Amino acid sequence: MSDHAGKVAVITGGASGIGFALAQRAAAERMVVVLVDVDERALAPARAALEADGAAAHSYAVDVSDRDAMMALAERVGEEVGDAWLLVNNAGVFLPGSFSEMPPQQWHFIIDVNMWGVVYGIQAFLPGLLARDSGHIVNTSSVDGIVTVPNAPAYNAAKHAVTAMSETLYRELEGAGSGVGVSVLCPGAVPTNILGSARHWPSRLGPAPEVNEDPYPELDGLISPAAVADITFAAIGERRFWILTHPEQYADAIRARAEGAATGANPDDRSVDPNFRRDTGDCRAIDGADALAPAP
Ligand SMILES: NC(=O)c1ccc[n+]([C@@H]2O[C@H](COP(=O)([O-])OP(=O)(O)OC[C@H]3O[C@@H](n4cnc5c(N)ncnc54)[C@H](O)[C@@H]3O)[C@@H](O)[C@H]2O)c1
Repeated sequence: MSDHAGKVAVITGGASGIGFALAQRAAAERMVVVLVDVDERALAPARAALEADGAAAHSYAVDVSDRDAMMALAERVGEEVGDAWLLVNNAGVFLPGSFSEMPPQQWHFIIDVNMWGVVYGIQAFLPGLLARDSGHIVNTSSVDGIVTVPNAPAYNAAKHAVTAMSETLYRELEGAGSGVGVSVLCPGAVPTNILGSARHWPSRLGPAPEVNEDPYPELDGLISPAAVADITFAAIGERRFWILTHPEQYADAIRARAEGAATGANPDDRSVDPNFRRDTGDCRAIDGADALAPAP
């Protein structure tokens, strides 16, 4: 019997990709799974698939960037399902665009979901976890929350914020001797529906950008969402803060960036996401990043 059997796992962005794989992994641990997602149409089949495998699953259609809705969610989960033990703030969106071209609405979309969604998830569920002095929070950042990827300024900014706030929370709880653990999940390339994020564009932000229907590109080092979920649950078991899904692929870039900051050296190709280096990377993977490719 798993150590986690019977505990409640709340997973935002749980209807697709990495979030759904985490939900399947939680179900395999016999946890009670709570899927939270803004995409109502994807929620029903995701929950049904978990239930068909014998899981106890619940689903809530909530936009993580709506603070009131997230605070209400925590109350409802407590009343209708039980005390959350695991919270995975995983919902995220991606849009490409250079700094000079990205309109402010796209910045809001990306920051609202990727950064504020994590803040609100923590604000909603942390009080209960602290009161019980037990549980774990995983915030999904990205390797782009440690190094940067070209042509994605808002995504880089939001993911760096997630890494930084996770580290701050980890230190805060650790300093207080809390029984609540914190991890930051920093995936590299994982084939999911993330490049079609414009499907989640909220009408309040005006006209939506075109939805990218392209399949996830054949980047180096692709690993499956299920593999990410296995790595994540191993880290939770060890109460490990950093969850890097591709440690070998990114170690040099992470070191180069830290070294540059320590010595004052300017950023160059060595310190960006290696899938998008000018010299070796496949810049086609991100619309518009061709512009960053070396001149022939
Ligand atoms: N796929 C990758 O290569 C990769 C790499 C690094 C980090 N990530 C991160 O992993 C996380 C999961 O993304 P994914 O790749 O599985 O993409 P995905 O598009 O397959 O899944 C994201 C899920 O989040 C949901 N979502 C979007 N906006 C929401 C909102 N406002 N409220 C609630 N739910 C919302 C979507 O409906 C979807 O179900 C994201 O935070 C993403 O930034 C992905």
